Amino acid sequence: MQVTSLSLVNYRNYQQLNLTLKPGINLFIGKNGQGKTNLVEAIRYCSTLSSHRSPTSALITADKDQSLIGVELENQGKKLKLGIELNKSLANRHSINGNIVKKSSEVLGALTTVIFSPEDIDLIRRDPSTRRGFLNDLGIQLRPAYFQTLSDYERVLKQRNALLKSAKGRSIDTSTLELWDEQLVELASRIIENREQLIRSIAPGVNEKYSTISKSESEIEIYQISSIDIDYRNHTTEEIKEKLEFAIRGLRQEEIDRGITLIGPQRDDLQIKLSGLSSKEHASQGEAWSLALSLKLASAELIAESSNTGKPVIILDDVFSVLDSSRREALTEFMSGYEQVLITAAVEEDVPLTSKATRFIVESGKVE
Ligand SMILES: Nc1ncnc2c1ncn2[C@@H]1O[C@H](COP(=O)(O)OP(=O)(O)OP(=O)(O)O)[C@@H](O)[C@H]1O
Ligand SMILES: [Mg+2]
Repeated sequence: MQVTSLSLVNYRNYQQLNLTLKPGINLFIGKNGQGKTNLVEAIRYCSTLSSHRSPTSALITADKDQSLIGVELENQGKKLKLGIELNKSLANRHSINGNIVKKSSEVLGALTTVIFSPEDIDLIRRDPSTRRGFLNDLGIQLRPAYFQTLSDYERVLKQRNALLKSAKGRSIDTSTLELWDEQLVELASRIIENREQLIRSIAPGVNEKYSTISKSESEIEIYQISSIDIDYRNHTTEEIKEKLEFAIRGLRQEEIDRGITLIGPQRDDLQIKLSGLSSKEHASQGEAWSLALSLKLASAELIAESSNTGKPVIILDDVFSVLDSSRREALTEFMSGYEQVLITAAVEEDVPLTSKATRFIVESGKVE
């Protein structure tokens, strides 16, 4: 699949942009702070309905109330237009071929992307939310219904937390809390199951990519660390649901005392073990980079194999400058198998090009 055009109005430092993109490599060159990442971020947004680096409110140009993103896609000759309207005070709106859709998740799945950036190392090194975010962004693209489950869960969690907080130190209406418990557990078990499926699908690819990049035989094991201390791999969804119900009952008083929900997928982590050791604590800088790259490369292949929109658009945001030569090589070789690759760089010499690229210069929110 490919993005044939991008239009922006009041998106970050772009007042207005109409850009035609080409198949193959599109190279965006510009000094720091000119709008390279903003541009690819806008395209990425259309595939996950979130930015990979900021809350959505930061995308609207400062002092404006509304931001528009439009992308035109082409997949095996079929064309499609996605429109996104981000509003400061009103709800955001989403459209397909000019028609506003009821649920935002309806625009998902049409455009798939995999983004590589210098922050990818955080996937290994940083807090659990980074890893949950990785799984969620992948899951949303493969199965847009997952987006709905996640937003429903977020809403239920917020309301349940508000109730617990308001009850802090006072008596609580247990029947209302029990209603929230039921919804929470139902949605939680669906999220956990989705993540389990994703991990099962991606793990062989991660192992394969890692051995190619690092030229080592080290085995990678990936699994979820559960907030209720069970191994999800050994339980059915129904069993997980029961365990969550049981745990939530046992934590009743503690949750009321602390005014917050203490279990659920918002507290799970993704364990990535390299030769039996947790990579978060033990991987060297080089190993961590190889792991992060392997996760991203395997995601791209998983999308290519399992989504009905073909190969994802690959976004390489300023990533070559932080990779050593062997990892650069692995990425360059990988790129050649994809229909469209968007690359940003401050210095053109950092980008190892193997085929002809369409070159753009980015300067203060304008693209030539
Ligand atoms: N909401 C916003 N309103 C106006 N300007 C913004 C907004 N958000 C970000 N910017 C500006 O956009 C500019 C470009 O940011 P961007 O991250 O795209 O730069 P870049 O070209 O990728 O630079 P680098 O090479 O350093 O990564 C920044 O100077 C920032 O101040
Ligand atoms: Mg940038």
